[in-house]
Amino acid sequence: MDLTKLMELDKTYYMNTFGQRNPVFFERGEGVYLYDSIGNKYLDFFSGIAVNSCGHSHPYFVEGLCNQIKKLIHTSNLYYIKNQTLLAKTIVENSCADKVFFANSGAEANEGAIKLAKIYFYKQGKPHKNEFITLKNSFHGRTLATLAATGQEKYQKPYGPLIHKFIHAPINDIYALKSLVTDNTAGIILEPIQGEGGVYEVDKEFAKAVRKLCDEKEILLIFDEVQTGMGRLGYLFGYEYLETEPDIFTLAKALGNGIPIGAICAKDFVAKSFSPGDHGSTFGGNPLATCAGLLVFDIIKKENLVENAKNMGNYFMEKLQKIPQVKQVRGCGLMIGLSVDNAKEIQKKLFLEKILVGAVGDETLRILPPLIVKKEEIDLFINAFKKVLGGNL
Ligand SMILES: Cc1ncc(COP(=O)(O)O)c(C=O)c1O
Repeated sequence: MDLTKLMELDKTYYMNTFGQRNPVFFERGEGVYLYDSIGNKYLDFFSGIAVNSCGHSHPYFVEGLCNQIKKLIHTSNLYYIKNQTLLAKTIVENSCADKVFFANSGAEANEGAIKLAKIYFYKQGKPHKNEFITLKNSFHGRTLATLAATGQEKYQKPYGPLIHKFIHAPINDIYALKSLVTDNTAGIILEPIQGEGGVYEVDKEFAKAVRKLCDEKEILLIFDEVQTGMGRLGYLFGYEYLETEPDIFTLAKALGNGIPIGAICAKDFVAKSFSPGDHGSTFGGNPLATCAGLLVFDIIKKENLVENAKNMGNYFMEKLQKIPQVKQVRGCGLMIGLSVDNAKEIQKKLFLEKILVGAVGDETLRILPPLIVKKEEIDLFINAFKKVLGGNL
């Protein structure tokens, strides 16, 4: 099937939530490259929105998944699931969490984290503590509660009334945030670096001050690490970059390298608020999804991907800072945002050069290469980027 035909069928049969997509469909991927239906090779510096951190078709990942598929895909949570337990153990052994619960996406993990915070206070006889503070410009997902958590009106407007109470504070302003805290505040939710909002970093000082505030006011600190987790920042988790431990954090995206999975990770004192029947999932933590998570941890460890994200991120950012048309380089590791004029036009021109990146509005280019990226591929990007910037925009 050719692209024109596919676009026509998509228009007829698929709900139009994605608008005019980039005019391409991919047939296969290998490492940092994707290949389209007519054999063109694209440098993938967006990783399926921070998902394919181990690259496409990683041989160890593919073999491990194929073996799992041949044996068992799903059983339900009525029975013990070996991979589920082992992946929870791996996350706990490598993080500040004591317990884990698996969901199927980032939004679902965040939804679960919000439920966990609510039930934590409910079970202490403090049901009034059911409100949350999140940041303006944040993104936490598309379910109704996570939409309410998301600090961007454009996503919320058609879906009101949003019944959960989320108040949005400006980023890195501890005084503004303090002024919003009440006796009803159950949790403060932060992305260590706002991704969808345009790559804006939470300051370490702010994160530490929020931690202190939470301790003083009996509020749970929740980090949404759906995008920042699993090595992207050159730290296994974004909370390490902020030198601040949350009580709950969530993962998704790169945890499955493309197989849908999400995780709620929590300290024991909060996690134990969930009793049998309080939360659940049909698919969550199934043998296949948790096999993917285990393989991802293996690859990250064997290939030193956290270290690579740090080194390649520094190398990349240094090069980007030298480009005159780039007004600001934001982010950490391989989560990079560039302030530029005409971001959308640049993204389109890079696409014509067979390079994939994202844009947030017309002001920010978003770059999220797979964590396996090498210097040569970054150099390829820099050369194409300079060429595009040098042309007529
Ligand atoms: C920080 C953050 N939280 C939550 C989500 C929602 O994840 P999902 O699309 O898997 O539901 C995203 C998605 O981009 C995200 O970046």
